[in-house]
Amino acid sequence: MSETATLEINGQKHEFPLIKGTENEVAIDIKTLRGVTGGVTTIDPGYKNTGSCESAITFLNGEEGVLRYRGYAIEDLAEKASFLEVAYLLIFGELPTKVELDKFHADIKEESVVDDDIKKILDAFPKTAHPMGVLSSLTSALTAFNPTSVNVDSEEDMYRAIVKIMGKFPVLVAWTMRKQKGLPLDYGDDSIGYVENVLKMMFKKPNQEYVENSILINALDKLLILHADHEQNCSTSTVRIVGSSHAGLFASLSAGISALWGPLHGGANQAVLEMLEAIKEDGGDTKKFMAKAKDKQDPFRLMGFGHRVYKNFDPRAKIIKVAADEVLADLGVEDPVLDIAKGLAAEALSDEYFVKRKLYPNVDFYSGIIYRAMGIPVEMFTVMFALGRLPGWISQWKEMRTRKEPIGRPRQVYTGENYREFKTIDNR
Ligand code: CMC
Repeated sequence: MSETATLEINGQKHEFPLIKGTENEVAIDIKTLRGVTGGVTTIDPGYKNTGSCESAITFLNGEEGVLRYRGYAIEDLAEKASFLEVAYLLIFGELPTKVELDKFHADIKEESVVDDDIKKILDAFPKTAHPMGVLSSLTSALTAFNPTSVNVDSEEDMYRAIVKIMGKFPVLVAWTMRKQKGLPLDYGDDSIGYVENVLKMMFKKPNQEYVENSILINALDKLLILHADHEQNCSTSTVRIVGSSHAGLFASLSAGISALWGPLHGGANQAVLEMLEAIKEDGGDTKKFMAKAKDKQDPFRLMGFGHRVYKNFDPRAKIIKVAADEVLADLGVEDPVLDIAKGLAAEALSDEYFVKRKLYPNVDFYSGIIYRAMGIPVEMFTVMFALGRLPGWISQWKEMRTRKEPIGRPRQVYTGENYREFKTIDNR
């Protein structure tokens, strides 16, 4: 294959180098485009064809349904690793030894207290506030009680910032739910595992002894691993671009949480369950909703279907579908919406509209069913996604800052008015 790409504009040829990734992905390096062409730019709404960076964290092949973190298959990690091991892998690049993992966990535990004044901020929110809005605000508020910026040239500073947010974030996650439910705000238990502690902080009742449930722990561990990173998606790109202005880690993460909230991204898990409930309430006629999704005059989309990158199947959805069956059986929960979901998926997978557009169930299609079986309220689903995505966001932010990437600042093609003479208000 040639090492360059040639672009001809108005009879003039320009050569651009090709960049090849370790999995043989090819990109045209257009860093010099504007300079050599006298200001010609590219346009690509939604960045469907634009690589924003080179990254060594996550590999995704949408055609073949492959997802790997630092070279390890998602199937292996979901089956054999713990969420904390995966977090370490994403952030530091290698699977930890037992000693490294224990130290990482111990350092996180040291930092798993948030300033008590954060409770006052939480107190000011109404109970009806959406937990994602609350989580984003509290994450941003953390900057008021911690160093606002990280010296990215200091490994120690970077490490401190990472263990701080890994420790404090689960507390904020638990508090957003406890606030909604009117439960007292408490701290975690240092004697148990990371995921065990998340569940305990969420569900511990003030008047009852808390009993660990290994089914819930395993299910959450798996869900968090499956959500832990997904290369340059909307929220991750947001974290990288906010961080590229040298805004601090917590502020960048807070922006990522807001990006994740939308129903086309992480908010889909809540939207899926609401859609399945609506289908059930409506009598369970999946065909009617399929027709709505295909009607171009109707804004309705089949939530939990389709993906910007996966055009064959979403490997995370495959794992979650099996997990949903297992968890519901283990917990003895019968949820009619699981049957509706399976029926809908079967119909869509053989429907010409969906087949032609390569629309398959994505990670969010079945996850809400598991969350609900675990007793997690629907509005908390995207918060759980954020908890899983945290190590991914951190690793992407760290990569961007340590590689000294330039500030993210796209170009545009202006389509507004040409120069107009200003008229004073009396003359308009
Ligand atoms: N239901 C019905 N039609 C759809 C759907 C859907 N869920 N998704 C895409 N289409 C159609 C779309 O109308 C378009 O049709 P046409 O070519 O006739 O105009 C075609 O498929 C291509 O869609 P697109 O919107 O150009 O694709 P995209 O890559 O811009 O969007 C997506 C990807 C995930 C935003 C979209 O598929 C969608 O809105 N899905 C529902 C929301 C959802 O489940 N989001 C979670 C994504 S996975 C979790 C995560 O990582 O965030």
